[in-house]
Amino acid sequence: MIFYPPKAIVMAPLSGYTDWPYRHSMRRHGCYYAFTEMIDAGSLAYENPNATKMLFRGNDEPWLAVQLLGSDPEMLKKAVLKLNSYNFDLLDFNLGCPVTKVAKKGAGAVLGRNIDLAAKMLELIVKLSRFPVTAKTRIFSETETEATIKLAKKLESAGAQTLTIHGRVKEKFYSGEVFHQIIAATRNAVSIPVVVNGGINGRRSYQSALSESGCSVAMVARGAMGNPWLFQELQSTDFIATTVHELADEIVNHVEEMVCFYGDTMAFKLARKIVLDYLRGRGFSGELRAKVSFLNSMHDLSEIVSEVRKGPSERYWQSMPEERQLKR
Ligand SMILES: Cc1cc2nc3c(=O)[nH]c(=O)nc-3n(C[C@H](O)[C@H](O)[C@H](O)COP(=O)(O)O)c2cc1C
Repeated sequence: MIFYPPKAIVMAPLSGYTDWPYRHSMRRHGCYYAFTEMIDAGSLAYENPNATKMLFRGNDEPWLAVQLLGSDPEMLKKAVLKLNSYNFDLLDFNLGCPVTKVAKKGAGAVLGRNIDLAAKMLELIVKLSRFPVTAKTRIFSETETEATIKLAKKLESAGAQTLTIHGRVKEKFYSGEVFHQIIAATRNAVSIPVVVNGGINGRRSYQSALSESGCSVAMVARGAMGNPWLFQELQSTDFIATTVHELADEIVNHVEEMVCFYGDTMAFKLARKIVLDYLRGRGFSGELRAKVSFLNSMHDLSEIVSEVRKGPSERYWQSMPEERQLKR
């Protein structure tokens, strides 16, 4: 089954980010294919309320995949059976997360390096899930293709219907070069579609990711943080600068929806990093960014947003390349 048509742009799962308000903000700007953040199989099995919240799907969401993380077959089994009572378009298995907490449990990227066990877990998920199953993984090596291809072939045989490959090794976490040629070789070795991921933050990086990997579908992640307009940018031929008022309105909409979704206390705590993402790289003062760290109420937000409407410093307007400029 083909999930993504050519040139589809997929919003990555992002832990601590891709909740319903976040996805809603992306969708306002042309995102169709979106994921929940990764959900730990154990938390699902034990009905942790935070995990249940992550499963929420808005009535207006046209397409949504859920991402599962885990390495214990009993927990995975319980989690998949639980997920079957929800409504998702596909279930993705996380084989790429490098963070210590996850690595200690032998899940994510550590499991991705244990090819036979990863395939066995995937097979179990495929057997139990009522949704089609895909996997998201990383390249094994920056210099040779053999191990990444071996993993991809095993996952394909285990029933993965699409693979998303982040072109950085687990030791590099999220920084450094993205090795598209390893993704290209892997894509040529399997029959299932491969989605390229890593380092896409504008049209230029998007086009080189597609041409160098040979993939027709890309997954964007940090490039869309604070920049939901990326979806429009990648789907058009012209760069359309965002006005300071569009930026301010987006911040307000996003935070208001967080308040509806989480309630005031939790929402404002979580919204601080979200608002900082919107301000990042757009020339706003350190003073304004410091104010965001104390965001606690709608009143605080309206003060912040009225500063945003005044626009960044004059130096920003003069020094930023045309392509990255906000409009007044
Ligand atoms: C804060 C953060 C949270 C992430 N959470 C997840 C996650 O829940 N599941 C997952 O598969 N990848 C996760 N990732 C990895 C991204 O989906 C993506 O593979 C990675 O950031 C590379 O893409 P980029 O260079 O375009 O950001 C996360 C990355 C970051 C920075």
